[in-house]
Amino acid sequence: MTSDLDTEQPNGVLPLRPDLVGLLPYGAPQLDVPHLLNVNENPYAPAPDVVADIAEAVARAAAGLNRYPDRDFEDLRADLAGYLRVESGVELTTDQVWAANGSNEIMLHVLQAFGGPGRTVLSFAPTYSMYPEYARDTFTGWVAGRREADFSLDPDVARAAIAEHAPSVVLLASPNNPTGTALPATTVLAVLDAAARVPGGCVVVVDEAYGEFRRTGVPSALELLPDHPHLAVSRTMSKAFGLAGARVGYLAAAPALVDALRVVRLPYHLSAVTQAVARAALRHAPALMAQVGSLRDERDALVVWLRGQGLTVADSDANFVLFGLFDDRHAIWQGLLDRGVLIREVGPDGWLRVSVGTPKDMVAFKNALSEVAGL
Ligand SMILES: Cc1ncc(COP(=O)(O)O)c(C=O)c1O
Repeated sequence: MTSDLDTEQPNGVLPLRPDLVGLLPYGAPQLDVPHLLNVNENPYAPAPDVVADIAEAVARAAAGLNRYPDRDFEDLRADLAGYLRVESGVELTTDQVWAANGSNEIMLHVLQAFGGPGRTVLSFAPTYSMYPEYARDTFTGWVAGRREADFSLDPDVARAAIAEHAPSVVLLASPNNPTGTALPATTVLAVLDAAARVPGGCVVVVDEAYGEFRRTGVPSALELLPDHPHLAVSRTMSKAFGLAGARVGYLAAAPALVDALRVVRLPYHLSAVTQAVARAALRHAPALMAQVGSLRDERDALVVWLRGQGLTVADSDANFVLFGLFDDRHAIWQGLLDRGVLIREVGPDGWLRVSVGTPKDMVAFKNALSEVAGL
């Protein structure tokens, strides 16, 4: 559960960085309600045989917990490369893969290595609200370029922003959070081309946290890796894999880029327990991912239903949908919560975001929204 922060720092007692004074920790509400549709989790818990295998792997790891874990987790990186080969058809070597405690930590490693004082990280808003926090925490300047009204990214706008700000890192979420928008390969290629012209170099991170939910025909940026040494593609086991509690994110890039991340990571950052859980889960990838198809179908049906109610809905390649527009979105959010449905008040004014849940969750959401919004 979240706790409030005492932001009244007694003068001179705690030398808090001035730029952190008065700030609250990031976090969506964690509430105990029947329908949790606010943080884009997979609503399906692992099946009992998967749980048993994970528990056995943890027991084996526990027997060696007097020792530090494998710092470079070669076995896990090989398993992740194997998973990406099957999921995206892209061949990767172990030294092209990195992992950390969630893709949040992956992104922090990227900014620790390639950002820093006097440098800039560029992204395009509206986008994932943690990006400016990674920038703040690594003393990297934060610049948010703009997306179009339909939340797509105009390649010319992106090129111009890169030329103007000469960032050392560009963060592109695709599918984007909170809008669900996936970027076509042509846009990513335009960004890569502009980034290659930045004096001193520029790393482009395509954040594919929701990549497995993309619609048929939408490519993964992984396919662009062989020709672009300044590209990194980040993924997570938190979403499609249904393993948010395990905290495992990973990244694919050229070996030189991965080597730079190895310099800034804390020693033994990925615990032996985490490595064991991730490897056991990867052995069950098909079972853990079994619901991805039905979640995609449920998402597409939700978009059709919301549009059928006369609402505005952003196209989504993710496991959530951004919809609106409401004069008082907080009242809608609260009305849903009062009916046991927790969604997220996020994105531009007037919009709300709902994660795709089980069919039961979706019925509860639709009923509650119909009542609250008078549909
Ligand atoms: C776009 C995007 N990137 C990264 C993350 C971080 O995921 P995790 O740290 O669980 O891997 C999220 C989580 O919601 C996200 O929406």
